[in-house]
Amino acid sequence: MTVPHSTIERAVEALRGGGLVAFPTETVYGLGADAANPDAVRRIFAVKGRPVGHPLIVHLARSAQVHEWACLDDGQARMVDTLAGSFWPGPLTVVVPRSSRVASETVGGGETIGLRVPDHPIAFELLDRFGGGVAAPSANRFGRVSPTTADHVRHDFGQDVDVIIDGGPTEVGVESTIIELTSDRPLLLRPGGISRTELSAALGVDVVDGRAGQARAAGMLPSHYAPRATVEVLGSAELVARLGEIDANGQASSIGVIAPVPVDRDRTWCLPADPDGYARGIYASLRAADEEGVEHLLVVPPDADLDSDDLDSGDMGDAILDRLAKAAAPRPGT
Ligand code: TXA
Ligand code: MG
Repeated sequence: MTVPHSTIERAVEALRGGGLVAFPTETVYGLGADAANPDAVRRIFAVKGRPVGHPLIVHLARSAQVHEWACLDDGQARMVDTLAGSFWPGPLTVVVPRSSRVASETVGGGETIGLRVPDHPIAFELLDRFGGGVAAPSANRFGRVSPTTADHVRHDFGQDVDVIIDGGPTEVGVESTIIELTSDRPLLLRPGGISRTELSAALGVDVVDGRAGQARAAGMLPSHYAPRATVEVLGSAELVARLGEIDANGQASSIGVIAPVPVDRDRTWCLPADPDGYARGIYASLRAADEEGVEHLLVVPPDADLDSDDLDSGDMGDAILDRLAKAAAPRPGT
């Protein structure tokens, strides 16, 4: 899908003027602002409803720009170079010590920065023409489901964003993998399209699962990525029994189902069984269920293996289970 140059130019002008631009990446749509402009970055937090302490990812056109934003020792520089060579442009964010160039607002007042070179022609053109870093969280209201189409962004923000660039549906469908490289032990902070195994192989050291630690990343808070409907995650065998129970109780009218297997009832979204295909469609399905007025969603993950051993594998199946667990977590105030 191509976008007129005039749209990109308008978007670049908006960024230069401290405005907000929603743009496609290969993972999800981002809500971007000039990472070096504190006022522009404050607008992101205000429009999203995001707590100010939650750091934003800074997007760059090229990996060579990393050194303008990060302050790396030799070991960190080697790790970043290795990962950039293997996975950038692509769905990987590195968290590293920050340089003084970045606005403190951008990184939630912390000493580290998340950096990513996205793999999307429109994102590249925007970043390349702009020249600087673009701070961008996913373009959804805080705590809600990330957008994988421009319509999702319009639905959440309408007129609050200066320019929305429509690049069609995103390719990966869930947010980037996040790896922290601030010590000599690389930590996986968020699973995504690049697996922990791939990261460990590239670095030649075991990347440790860092999710057991504190809720440093917003996406690591218990309830996140949530539709309005309450969510229950279950295996395909349990689904049949659960639906029987629901029908017997006369609750069928408020129920929706998302599953990688055909289910013969209304308000069912059938996704591909392979994790990559499932990831591409899961957020659109969660949003569609809300549009249809579903109150309670039964969601069966791709290979329906909810064994806790799978939860730290750090691959795409794991990334999906991670997002679904957060969608299913108890909501604040409920
Ligand atoms: O795929 C993605 O990463 C998308 C696209 C737009 O690039 N962006 C995205 O941004 O998912 P956001 O803000 O929705 O999620 C970024 C996560 C948050 O959980 C944030 O706390 C974490 O990254 N993060 C960013 N900078 C960090 C830092 N310096 N240290 C620890 N976590 C950080
Ligand atoms: Mg987000």
